[in-house]
Amino acid sequence: MSSPSFTGRDVVSVRDFSRKEIDHVLDMAEVMEPLAKKGSDMLHGRIMATLFFEASTRTRLSFESAMTRLGGTALGFAETRGTSVEKGENLADTVRVVEKYADVLVVRHPLEGAARMAAEFSSIPVINAGSGAEEHPTQALLDLYTMRKEFGTIDGLSIGMIGDLRYGRTVHSLAYALSQYKVKLFLISPDILRMRREVMEEVSKKIDVEETASLKDHLRELDVIYMTRVQKERFADLQEYEKVKGSYRLMAEDLVKAKKSSIVMHPLPRVDEVDPNVDSTPHAKYFQQVGNGVVLRMGLLGLVLGAL
Ligand code: NCD
Repeated sequence: MSSPSFTGRDVVSVRDFSRKEIDHVLDMAEVMEPLAKKGSDMLHGRIMATLFFEASTRTRLSFESAMTRLGGTALGFAETRGTSVEKGENLADTVRVVEKYADVLVVRHPLEGAARMAAEFSSIPVINAGSGAEEHPTQALLDLYTMRKEFGTIDGLSIGMIGDLRYGRTVHSLAYALSQYKVKLFLISPDILRMRREVMEEVSKKIDVEETASLKDHLRELDVIYMTRVQKERFADLQEYEKVKGSYRLMAEDLVKAKKSSIVMHPLPRVDEVDPNVDSTPHAKYFQQVGNGVVLRMGLLGLVLGAL
């Protein structure tokens, strides 16, 4: 069977990819593992531009690291201060300018739909690095890669997503992506932070999904305990945030009740939802996730730029 073609493709939503395509991206991440240490000149002479209209540590730096490890170059901005956006330049114009400087654009923006729009205006591939509360496809891919690496397979897993399922974009992309596998999903959140209805509708047609507010009741069933931060910056009303902040706080003591083989994941940054005493347990995989993000993005850049 031939490999799916990725050259020149945008990565705006995980919904644009079949299971076969997702599996191929994960396979390519695996191929990148030794190159992440050794380095490579696979993307020598190629340029990636990062346009970040919103705060980031991991996503931007891991894209830069991935590009650099493959011998390419990264340029861009981490905030709009000091750019022409301050003079009133719109996203479409920014994209049409920066595409002349690079071979691939990586865009993070506070507005939903921004990555899709950037892709429409761009003649070079656009990778969505987070579009408002909507999606974060590369995080979902690295999360899948982490699960596959830890368990050898994604099929058959029971996965709990805990915390802010309304405003957290990583869980939206991850739920869409997981609906292509044979998994059971537990969506665990306070009532006002329940999973977005449109995600729930699509995903629950394909896989078994249970919504609940109690982590304790389900902890022992979970293979993956995917914790998330309550997205304070996306609340229109901070009083609402005050009501739900600190809803879940996972402690090492709680994990005594969990499966021995269960893993704790988190896209990071964490606030107080995973106590630091979890870090030294064998369950904690969130820092491994960060490393997996580099190889996953190496694979994705190699694919999109036609080097793989
Ligand atoms: C996430 C994001 O930006 O959506 N961070 C990340 O990219 N790993 C999660 C978050 O901010 O809570």
